[in-house]
Amino acid sequence: MTHLACSIIVPTFNERANMEPLVDRIAAAMGSAPFELIIVDDDSPDRTWEVVEALAVTRPWLRAYRRVGKRGLASAVIDGFSLARGANLICMDGDLQHDPQIIPQLLRALDEADVAVASRYTTGGTTGTWGGVRLWGSRLATSAAQRLLSVATTDPMSGFFALRRPVFIATASALKPRGFKILMALLHRAPTARVADVPFSFGIRVHGNSKLDSGVLLDYLAELWDLRFGERLSSTFVKYAMVGLSGVGVQLLALHLLRMIPALRTGESGWASALAILIAILWNYTFDNRWTFSAQRHRNLGPWLVGLSRFTLVCSTGAFISWSVGQGLRLVTHGMMNIYFASLFGIAVATVWNFTLNRRITWTEP
Ligand code: GDD
Ligand code: MN
Repeated sequence: MTHLACSIIVPTFNERANMEPLVDRIAAAMGSAPFELIIVDDDSPDRTWEVVEALAVTRPWLRAYRRVGKRGLASAVIDGFSLARGANLICMDGDLQHDPQIIPQLLRALDEADVAVASRYTTGGTTGTWGGVRLWGSRLATSAAQRLLSVATTDPMSGFFALRRPVFIATASALKPRGFKILMALLHRAPTARVADVPFSFGIRVHGNSKLDSGVLLDYLAELWDLRFGERLSSTFVKYAMVGLSGVGVQLLALHLLRMIPALRTGESGWASALAILIAILWNYTFDNRWTFSAQRHRNLGPWLVGLSRFTLVCSTGAFISWSVGQGLRLVTHGMMNIYFASLFGIAVATVWNFTLNRRITWTEP
């Protein structure tokens, strides 16, 4: 199979107004070098793909790939790389924040390296107009990635990079399409790849909006966790346990507040603790649905309620197991084991049980 010199992959979502200048600037930057440009658009409501199709009529090197029923930056890039025919692959944003004039430098860097990164943090690079929280968050994310994974670039978060085709071929099946830090995952899976940084200044977005919101930081930490520790302990379980722990706090707080209501104080506060448990269940379900299992999230009222009843059922069996384990431990140790210690064991076993069942029953994998 003969390869083109280079394939440029651009993931897009609602970037209609940016397409014509992007395509023109890439063509100008490439000059007479042969290349193909694949725009991977996730069926944007603003019909970005349609604009690209129109532009492609007079540009044989341009293709629009309209992905229907799929959403996600990393998975778009992986799909684009898979379609690409170039010996070198390039990934860049479609909102003009990545200056196409850097492309020839990235390609030249590939003479000596396997991966070339357009870096904001190497000498000569800048983060553009970013300030405050975003800059701080980005720095934090970068140093966390460098410490936890051995990634040999100053900017593992960059969305602008080039690589030799074999690097993608070798790592593709290990890449998680759910993530969005595709470069970080790639470098982690290709530890022997030679990496070169090319200084780059992040541009300003003129049209449209960024799709990366503040939730992205939490998702990023989860992704980092999975790359580093995922084989031993999945981030989904860590999230589940964190929500569970917060639920304990909520239950105790609710109990405290409910006991201030005179009517609930009678009967040894049995009603207050029952209500507090219900509140904690609702709390846990809401956050597990939105965060822990966000990929399988129940959005409409019907499925949401079905999920809630399954969750409640599962957690009730968990409570029974928790109680049994605690009692059992006391029994076999002839009451020698501290009751709190025994309960802690019970809670740990029940957490694993609840997690396993909820993942299979309440939030079934799509
Ligand atoms: N196909 C597809 N599907 N494309 C998407 C999706 C999606 O779900 N979400 C975003 N994109 C496209 C956007 O249309 C844009 O072309 C590109 O991906 C980057 O998205 P932005 O929303 O502009 O991201 P950003 O500017 O906030 O973040 C950029 O800089 C970060 C560095 O701090 C990206 O390059 C990040 O990857 C990078 O980490
Ligand atoms: Mn952007």
